[in-house]
Amino acid sequence: MPNETITVRDYLPADSDATIDIFLRAIREVASKDYSPAEIDAWAKVEDRDAWAARRSSRPAWIAQCGEVPIGFTDLEPDGHLDMMFVHPDYQGRGVASLLLATVEAATQRQGLDRIFTEASLTARPFFERRGFVVLASQRVEKRGQTLKNFRMEKHLR
Ligand SMILES: CC(C)(COP(=O)(O)OP(=O)(O)OC[C@H]1O[C@@H](n2cnc3c(N)ncnc32)[C@H](O)[C@@H]1OP(=O)(O)O)[C@@H](O)C(=O)NCCC(=O)NCCS
Repeated sequence: MPNETITVRDYLPADSDATIDIFLRAIREVASKDYSPAEIDAWAKVEDRDAWAARRSSRPAWIAQCGEVPIGFTDLEPDGHLDMMFVHPDYQGRGVASLLLATVEAATQRQGLDRIFTEASLTARPFFERRGFVVLASQRVEKRGQTLKNFRMEKHLR
């Protein structure tokens, strides 16, 4: 494990490939403990890398890095929706997602919003609960012919 400081910085367009790698590995190697192989196959796909890059650049987003190496990412849409929260399998349980969430919360408050909401996977639910989110509803989401369970969650900031 590299013994370098973990920091958070703004997402740059050049980070797109790194976020794809983190996304796919986090699902295949971490979320796979909570979903079936067929569900993981349906979820862990990026068919259009240009569309992925456009989506990442379309809202404020942040990269966690260890030294210079991207190890996690998140984002925040204008209405307070946190769309993505993924941490590289080699850096799980080291506070990376917590650092990213603190960045999102600061941005949310700067924008005058008082609520963050997300759709948390089975894997991410305990993380979000630990950081003050509550479950609003359990949902089933269609992905490429599979139906995956997740949770609509929110956190009020004031
Ligand atoms: C969910 C995820 C982002 C958490 O990232 P992380 O960097 O390991 O989280 P942190 O180290 O900041 O954990 C913060 C706290 O949540 C707790 N936590 C995190 N994941 C947990 C889990 N699966 N079960 C129980 N507690 C968990 C940690 O113990 C820690 O508690 P602490 O306050 O005592 O330190 C990461 O596991 C991940 O990438 N999962 C796979 C992809 C995924 O499902 N992403 C979400 C899509 S909605």
